Order: sequence, then C-alpha cells, then structure tokens
Amino acid sequence: MQRIAVLTSGGDAPGMNAAIRAVVRKAIYHGLEVMGIKRGYSGFIEADIEPMNLRSVTDIIHRGGTILHTARNEQFKTGQGRAMVWENIERFGIQGLVVIGGDGSFKGALALNAEYHLPVICLPGTIDNDISETDYTIGFDTAVNSVVEAINKIRDTASSHERTFIIEVMGRETGLIALHSGLAGGAESIIIPEYPYDIEKICSRLIRSYRQGSSHSIIVVAEGAASGVEIGKEIKQRTGFDTKVTILGHLQRGGNPSAFDRILASMMGSKAVELLMSGENKKMVGYTDGQVVAIDLEQVCNRKKKIDLNMYTLAGILSM
Ligand code: F6P
Repeated sequence: MQRIAVLTSGGDAPGMNAAIRAVVRKAIYHGLEVMGIKRGYSGFIEADIEPMNLRSVTDIIHRGGTILHTARNEQFKTGQGRAMVWENIERFGIQGLVVIGGDGSFKGALALNAEYHLPVICLPGTIDNDISETDYTIGFDTAVNSVVEAINKIRDTASSHERTFIIEVMGRETGLIALHSGLAGGAESIIIPEYPYDIEKICSRLIRSYRQGSSHSIIVVAEGAASGVEIGKEIKQRTGFDTKVTILGHLQRGGNPSAFDRILASMMGSKAVELLMSGENKKMVGYTDGQVVAIDLEQVCNRKKKIDLNMYTLAGILSM
C-alpha cells in the first residue's frame, strides 16, 4: 500500500482534527502518501482531494471542527454517486480509506467496499457516543464537558432567581450526553429516550424538594426523548413554578477538544493506519477497557449502543 486517503463525514466533533493529524503523521512516518478528501463523501464525488503533508496538520490538535470540512451527502447513497467516487479512487490512486464519522458514514464506507473493494477503516467521530462496540467516540467527552460548564452557569442564575431550568441537549436517539452531563452536573432529573419518563413523578419530586428547602432545579432533557420547550410548559402548568428552557444546540459541537478526546483521537488515528498497512479491511477502531481495538464494521453497524442502567439509577439516587 502506497497511498491512503482520509475524510471526515456527518456532524463534526471536537477531536476530529487530532485524528486527521494522527492519520497523516503516522502514515508519513511509515512512508505512505496521504490524500485529504474535503467535505466528506461530497468532496469524494467532486474530486475535492488534495495531498497532505506534515505541515498540513500543524497546529490543529487543539482545534475543534475539522480542517477537511464535513457534509451529509445524499448523492453518495445512490449507486451512481458511488460510481463517481470510484472514478476518483482510480484517478487519485487511492488504495485505502480512513473514514472519521458516525454510523451513517460507516454504512457509506461499507457500500463502497462492497462495490469497489476499497479497503476501509472507520473511526467513531461523533459527540453523540451512539456507536456500539466502543466505550467512547471522539468528541463525546468534550461535548459533555461543554454541557456541564453550561449547567454550572445556568445553576448560578437558577439559584439566584429560584427557578426551574430545563436544559435540552443533543444526542439524536441516545441519551448519553444527557446522562453523563446530568450526573456530572448534579441535575435533579434526567430525561433520556432509553427509559420512559413520568412527568407527574418529575413534578412531584420538584414540589417535594422545594418543600424541603431547595430553591431551584435543573432538568436535563435529551433531544431524542422530548422537546425541552414542551417539558417546560408541562412543568409550569402542573407546578406553577417559574420555569425557563435553554436549548444548548450546536455549541455542544464546537470548542477545543478535551485532553481525553485528543489522546483518544491520536490513538485511534494511529491504529487505523496500522490496520490498513497490515491488510485489514472493514474495521472500526474502538476503545474498550483502555485499549484501542479493531472491531468488525458490519457488527458495529448492526448493533445498538446500550446505555448503562446503573449509571441512570445512580443519577436518580444522587439527585434526591
Ligand atoms: O450527530 C451529531 C448531532 O450534533 C446530533 O446530536 C444532532 O441531533 C445533529 O447532529 C444535528 O445535526 P445538524 O448539525 O445537521 O443540525
């Protein structure tokens, strides 16, 4: 193998740059050439592809976003779109591909491999942490820390005004950002899609804790479970409390990656190059029990990430 390519696809995540840097530098260390594909599969279709060198990845390990830019591309989901990609694989002499993204991006990589036999290695890059067979995805830790910082700030004003705050966080169909940030931020209630919630119970708890002297509350809601605005309305109606809603939105996707995300991304990027060099294909680099490991990509795509029930129960106990 002489030349590989790397792309980032789907929603950006802090730490993607650290992963690109690791792929480029590890590949060059082993004498390989690296091409950077811009805007995910869109750039692959449109031949927006450039050679990368040691300097292309200077000064990026600490930066959020992705220097390669990213996109969600509909055309790539069609056979015709992938045929255009194949033309560029041949034109640019690409012999292996590293895809950094979420499960939609992984499915694209699998389709490309099935049709054109291009060796593919994927890295889980998404703030949602909704990828199976890995404890963490690149960007999750930073996003959770951003949410916790927001909770801290909102708690200051919530306590001053004796208000109930509903904080809606991202995560698609999973509640991992909500669960981790809610536990770390000491939220009074956490609403996630994995477990049914009972608004009556949430309100009774709020009333009880106010009677016991609590002046304010923070409720973290995962976007996949309910709308923060609707939860806010219901609580206000049922309790009469002064209720405010904050939707954190895309600020959860930005910012300097945490040290954990930088290290995770560096280890995963390096492992991806090792796997391609040793002839591996259709693998995702996962992180389990402190180790980076190669996992079958189809298995990753076919399994749903499980949430830790113990952590959810603990958050409930500690918020009493
Ligand atoms: O998958 C990452 C994510 O930030 C989700 O948490 C969120 O639902 C979605 O992307 C938002 O996507 P977009 O930036 O396209 O609005």
